[in-house]
Amino acid sequence: LRRSCLCRPINIPRTKPTNEVLNLIKDFCVTDKDLKEYMKLLMADLHKGLAKATHPKSIVKCYPTYIQDLPTGQEVGKFLALDLGGTNFRVLMIELQRNHFESISTTFVIPQEKMVGSGKDLFDHVAACLHIFIVEQKLESECMPLGFTYSFPLVQKALDRGLIERWTKGFKCEDILGDDVVKVLQEALIRRGIHKNVKIKAVLNDTAGTLMACAWKSPYCRVGLIVGTGTNACYVEKQQNAEMFDGQDHGGGIVLINCEWGAFGDDGSLNFIRRPEDDEIDKNSINPGRQLHEKMISGMYMGEIVRLLLLKCTKHGALFGGKASSELNQRDRFLTKYVSEIESDEPGKFDNCKAVLEELDLKNANESDYANVRYICEMVSRRAAYMCSAGLCTLIKKTGEKRVTVGIDGSVYRFHPHFHDLMMEKMSSLIKPGVVFDLMLAEDGSGRGAALTAASAL
Ligand code: GLC
Repeated sequence: LRRSCLCRPINIPRTKPTNEVLNLIKDFCVTDKDLKEYMKLLMADLHKGLAKATHPKSIVKCYPTYIQDLPTGQEVGKFLALDLGGTNFRVLMIELQRNHFESISTTFVIPQEKMVGSGKDLFDHVAACLHIFIVEQKLESECMPLGFTYSFPLVQKALDRGLIERWTKGFKCEDILGDDVVKVLQEALIRRGIHKNVKIKAVLNDTAGTLMACAWKSPYCRVGLIVGTGTNACYVEKQQNAEMFDGQDHGGGIVLINCEWGAFGDDGSLNFIRRPEDDEIDKNSINPGRQLHEKMISGMYMGEIVRLLLLKCTKHGALFGGKASSELNQRDRFLTKYVSEIESDEPGKFDNCKAVLEELDLKNANESDYANVRYICEMVSRRAAYMCSAGLCTLIKKTGEKRVTVGIDGSVYRFHPHFHDLMMEKMSSLIKPGVVFDLMLAEDGSGRGAALTAASAL
């Protein structure tokens, strides 16, 4: 776990672009005034999601997760975990030994056609991967508790029951919408003949897993955030405020809420900060009109926003001598990892930037192009970090706590060289005076968090 140090001076490089690029991109700047408006809107949406009367029409759904017990640090045992919802699918085995844990994992690719095919095919693949893992780890004669990290909108009915509400992040298996995902998985395990090796104990969102993994170490953890392929957050709410929660109180009076904040803005509320590039991304996506907040922030879209801005500047003659390469003209060709690579260059040096531009066949780029390209990356990642910051400040306010640790995971947060610092800086200026916060990388929330949640069910 990485702890932020609140006293470390924050030093985020700011690259100087040419005036032309500065002007073309200036709309991508979100001001504190914008962010304060954003916070007001998000807070109103959280209330709508939580209340019974407004929940059906709400945009930010605020699903109760049925997780009521934060880890105590005393959890022990061996667990399996499945992690479905990012770029890859993973199977893990985690051994919790009080303050210590060990884990082994295998990552599997999900073929594109299974992401958008039938639910049966997708879950048969999941079961086949789990089967490979069970054989590899020689677990054929065991029956282990399993936590299923399923990172899509899910209407939970119990810790081990949840109805598939919709797909996000490029997945689309429409035939199983409305089905109980645990049952769908269980049936696939039966078809594969491995149902005797596992007992599904819990289904949880990756944000909940991240919160749990962080809470295992930090007593102040009340919020979990993912900024990876998608973005979403969860937080600890009082049961009395979570009107959609109908479970039995375990005594603590709290429940984790999966906000599904990726959908924020789907009713047009974020139009005041959305730009033509955001529209373009949405139009070309598999789920137009949905997940508009996520599309402004997360790794699945960040590189593409940069590409669209690069093209815009090129068209205006402000980049690459006005000539784009055919590579740059290809949709999704500018990978989000390039943003992290380019911003990892030491200030004033452009080694990674050069390498990326060469990969995109932009060999005649000059020094001013490098600075401009980097500046565009900075604008896009900064907007994302600022929006996450405003979102987190809203959730921290909603918890009503004076001291909150946020557990965070996801490829953008993890690999972008300045995302953490950008958030620290912006949150410090947006947070209510008197409230103390801390941002913590909660590595492998999807695995450890799933094990901790399964443990809480035992
Ligand atoms: C998408 C999913 C959400 C998940 C997030 C991060 O927004 O809908 O459930 O938590 O991505 O993976």
